[in-house]
Amino acid sequence: MHWVSTETNLRRQLDAWRCSGDTIALVPTMGNLHPGHLSLVETAKARANRVVVSIFVNPLQFGPNEDYARYPRTLEADREKLANCGVDLLFSPPVEEIYPQGSKKTTYIEVPGLSDILCGASRPGHFRGVATVVAKLFNLVQPHLAVFGEKDFQQLLVIRKMVADLNFPVEIIGAPIVREADGLAMSSRNQYLSSQERKVAPSLYQVLCETRSAIKAGEQDYYRLAKAQTAKLRQLGFDPDYFSILRAHDLGEPSPGDSPLVILTAAKLGQTRLIDNLVVS
Ligand code: PAJ
Repeated sequence: MHWVSTETNLRRQLDAWRCSGDTIALVPTMGNLHPGHLSLVETAKARANRVVVSIFVNPLQFGPNEDYARYPRTLEADREKLANCGVDLLFSPPVEEIYPQGSKKTTYIEVPGLSDILCGASRPGHFRGVATVVAKLFNLVQPHLAVFGEKDFQQLLVIRKMVADLNFPVEIIGAPIVREADGLAMSSRNQYLSSQERKVAPSLYQVLCETRSAIKAGEQDYYRLAKAQTAKLRQLGFDPDYFSILRAHDLGEPSPGDSPLVILTAAKLGQTRLIDNLVVS
């Protein structure tokens, strides 16, 4: 596996592959890799003959009181996992390579509408940071396709809209959520949970499943259902940020009978913010 950290070395290697007619897939990550990330690599390998993974903890997508400084950085272990998975190239740039004049002075990309609701409402500027760094990675790697997890459902839609609006010649592939055996969606942030919180955490997914069952059983008052499930999360010990039932293709308010829907939630358990979602089709 090639391992590069500068734009020059990245372009040199990618130009060679592009000249040989290779199909290039990009899997952007912030590292601290778990089986959820590695499933994206498998999806990429099935569709391209060169797989590039980026590891970059992007300061631009973290708010001032968020966990940028303590976000887990495990580059050596990540490198080994990626090499074992058959990744062709790891790009792990330092912050100065991506933001030479500092992240506050960069030109940025704002995806309107979708960026302002749900996680965007509670994390102002977050999706601006995500869209900007993903656009930069697309320009650096110029992949034919890029794979993102449905775990970050809203992020996936923000990126799809950015790609459509700005005519990026990149196919966006969504990959399903990988869960622990007890249903908890895998996340680098799960390791912040205390052992007591870790026992409670899977009930977030259970509440999503119950909600899906209620919709499948015919419940169409989505507002009332979401309100009741928010109260249930509180009883279980979560501090819910949002619990919403929306149209899956644009996160708009659904009318009775709309399909597919997506149930999305973000909730704090102690100091840890968990997100999860479930599509109902
Ligand atoms: P990160 O949180 O590291 O996630 C990288 C990719 O892995 C994202 O596409 C995310 O949706 C996917 N992923 C995470 N957990 C998953 C799981 N349990 N199952 C399936 N996929 C999962 O998302 C980011 O980084 C950043 O915002 C990034 C896109 C890299 C831009 O900085």
